Amino acid sequence: MFGLEKIASKIEIPPEGIGADLAIPCFREKPEEVAEKIRGLKNPLFASVAVVGRYVNISFDLNALASVVLGEVAETKAKYGWNADGAGKTIMLEYSAPNIAKPMHMGHARNNAIGHALANIYKANGYTVITTNHFGDWGMSLAKIMLAFQKWGDRAEFEKDPIRTLLGLYVRMTKEIKTAPELEDEARELFRKLEGGDLTLRALWQEFRDISVKNFERVYALFGINFDLWHGESFYEPFIKEAIDEALTKGAAAYGEPDEKGGKPVVVNLDAFKLPSFLLVKSDGASLYSARDIAVGRWRLKEYPQAEKIIYVVGHEQELYLRQIFKTLGLMGYPEEKFKHVSYGVVTLDGKKISTREGGIVFLEDGLKEAIAKTKGIKEVGVGAILYNMLSMGREHDIAFSWEAALSIQGNSAPYIQYAYVRAKAILEKAGTQSPADAYSPILAGSREAYLLKRIAEFPQVVRQAYTLDAPHIIATFLNEFAQEFSRFYDAVPVLEEGAARALRLALVAASAQVLKNGLWLLGIEVPERM
Ligand code: ARG
Repeated sequence: MFGLEKIASKIEIPPEGIGADLAIPCFREKPEEVAEKIRGLKNPLFASVAVVGRYVNISFDLNALASVVLGEVAETKAKYGWNADGAGKTIMLEYSAPNIAKPMHMGHARNNAIGHALANIYKANGYTVITTNHFGDWGMSLAKIMLAFQKWGDRAEFEKDPIRTLLGLYVRMTKEIKTAPELEDEARELFRKLEGGDLTLRALWQEFRDISVKNFERVYALFGINFDLWHGESFYEPFIKEAIDEALTKGAAAYGEPDEKGGKPVVVNLDAFKLPSFLLVKSDGASLYSARDIAVGRWRLKEYPQAEKIIYVVGHEQELYLRQIFKTLGLMGYPEEKFKHVSYGVVTLDGKKISTREGGIVFLEDGLKEAIAKTKGIKEVGVGAILYNMLSMGREHDIAFSWEAALSIQGNSAPYIQYAYVRAKAILEKAGTQSPADAYSPILAGSREAYLLKRIAEFPQVVRQAYTLDAPHIIATFLNEFAQEFSRFYDAVPVLEEGAARALRLALVAASAQVLKNGLWLLGIEVPERM
């Protein structure tokens, strides 16, 4: 026999014209048995359950559905679509994590978009979400920028346009190191001094950090993003030594072969797990990015034991690396299964990968401002256009950002969906007050009203699916289809026409506006009041 959950996962919404609202393909089970089970549910919303070939077709009692669903939307409003799956549960969510002394560029938009969307999606599924911005304020790359500033920096230029100046210095350093590798040693020496607490270096570091954080905050303000925790990599410095010691005592790591000076690296061997081995500490005693991440993982588990999942939103180029980190934590006796990498593909702009190292990048703040300018200065539309474009594809796919697609009014864009919302609001404004559910006229199967209603009813399931798969694009795809359905309805049905159907139609429009708004909110996108 089979359980109902197994059936639930198979439910399909058949194409228009099939004469059913839901269909369940039964290729393993006997359709008659499935139909019997469903009839046994005695769901008052089901008008008929019929076997047709290998399918079980279900038709709704559309009038019952209308009064339940439209009533629920009117009652729950901004929380329509939410559920309590995560009640009493907590997740920790790391995202954004830009590096200081470098700009956030258009590539970072995707991380911000996915992270912010997941935070909202988990909240809508009842979870308590703790967001953390694990920004890069430590390490060799930063040391190189500091060194470049000391060597070639111009303070006046820096004060005028700090991040662009530092980016220029970083690009120059990357280039010069190729012919003058001793710069690498100098940077290492600088980093050692910084770690040792050298006052001049500490002050410069603090200055870079403060300026960068201010820059990041301007972008987050445009996105409407907030973090519960702002712990840069440097925050974990004091915990690194104990993390390495613990890895050694628990046998997750071991000393490797000494170098010519007798210094021994600390190595994690993951052969048994078919993962490459890696270093926590180099033979010169310098601890690495990886050692910091071991300290980070321990700290998160210790400080937030209630978190059932700790999600890392990080690009897919760090996938192998994070597997190594999580496995090492597991070998140290920590619950490895709590850690989850939510990865995403590369963003290209004009066909090129966006790379800070090369310098030729579009600053995210400039990109956002350009988007707002391109959308008549309406912030919600400009920012939304970029966000939607970053979210509409499955996150594993690489994407090519295109202004044309992002701003399209033909479909699959934030402006298209927002426009549907604005139209819905305009109708409601014109109509004035609405009538209660008992004034609804009957709905005909196959009518535009029926199709729109079913889409409204589907929304809560979409919200649930998005968190189960950590997949904001499920919301994006739904919203695009929903906006299309709304347009079909709007074009075919004279909503404001006086008559028996008006109350129901207006309620459908009100519910549609709510679904569009709630869905966009899940993606971190706001709705404009006009367009
Ligand atoms: N700042 C890093 C980078 O730009 C990303 C941090 C990823 N998170 C982590 N826990 N390692 O590559």
